[in-house]
Amino acid sequence: MNMKPGQTITHFLIEEQRQIKGATGEFSELVSDVVTACKVISNLVNKGELIGVLGSAGSENVQGETQKKLDILTNEVFIEANEWSGNLAAMASEEMDDIYMIPKQYPRGKYLLTFDPLDGSSNTDVNVSVGTIFSILRCDGEEGTCDKEGAFLQPGTKQVAAGYALYGPSTMLVLTTGHGVNGFTLDMNIGEFILTHPNMQIPEDTREFAVNMSNMRHWEKPVQRYVEECLAGKTGSRGEDFNMRWIASMVAEVHRILTRGGIFMYPIDQKMKDNGTEGKLRLLYEANPMSMIVEQAGGASSTGYERIMDLKPKSLHQRVPVILGSKNEVERLVSYHAE
Ligand code: AHG
Ligand code: MN
Ligand code: MN
Repeated sequence: MNMKPGQTITHFLIEEQRQIKGATGEFSELVSDVVTACKVISNLVNKGELIGVLGSAGSENVQGETQKKLDILTNEVFIEANEWSGNLAAMASEEMDDIYMIPKQYPRGKYLLTFDPLDGSSNTDVNVSVGTIFSILRCDGEEGTCDKEGAFLQPGTKQVAAGYALYGPSTMLVLTTGHGVNGFTLDMNIGEFILTHPNMQIPEDTREFAVNMSNMRHWEKPVQRYVEECLAGKTGSRGEDFNMRWIASMVAEVHRILTRGGIFMYPIDQKMKDNGTEGKLRLLYEANPMSMIVEQAGGASSTGYERIMDLKPKSLHQRVPVILGSKNEVERLVSYHAE
């Protein structure tokens, strides 16, 4: 592909579109609108308390989590940027109980968009990196079936594209359309995402893990064993020292892994089982898009028992255990689950 560092994301998308026979441009338009939404969100989180958007909104989402003002605002930004284009059949988000139908005055398209408009939103009030995650599916069903919840319940392997925006020291957008992973940095002066990280690759080996250690006593045995071995370091069975990170923003965590390797875990634990949930992270707009990006960059992603992208979703807000990152470490932990 004609991919040059320094090109704008629009240029990149058009070059990509030219590689696909019969492409109508609808997909590129859709991604462009998502990119616009991410730029608007970047501006909102950047202004922060200057425009009074920090703090709680005093409401809860469908999963009983307290919504931040920014959770609600960023969800609205995504809807506004995407509902009018005629490229979408429907949308689904962490912040909406049901799917979002395209209003009557706009035409409908063949794509479905799912998103977590603000990932890591507990970090907004403390000025730590947050992000946006999105996934694009196609609806090939008959007319009248695409704006139903069932249309969204496709395995991750069916994703047409996935990406995230990271609002950190710089704003970045990382995208895959199924041909590798490319990273763009927002040049605030010209308002464009510029290709700065072509063909991102996750190193196969790592000595860095990310997990919320406060849950250790509740984890299943294979995860406890894996982390205990990391903690034992040089003197333990791994014979090497490991480093640990936990940002509590999955986007920032995955971005670090894409940059220098590592393994990220949000495993199932006894507390979740007691509450009748199957994990912390949501399959359709967190686990699947991140799994596609990680696999496209040469990494692996699993629940511990199954490849995440092979799961057949049961509901819109289904949660799953997530173990992803450097291939050899993920495979090791999966093998512990198999024993
Ligand atoms: P969200 O803000 O969209 O609800 O997601 C937060 C997620 C994820 O980004 C992060 O890895 C994890 O929750 C943090 O969980 P803990 O607070 O349990 O560490
Ligand atoms: Mn999230
Ligand atoms: Mn969120």
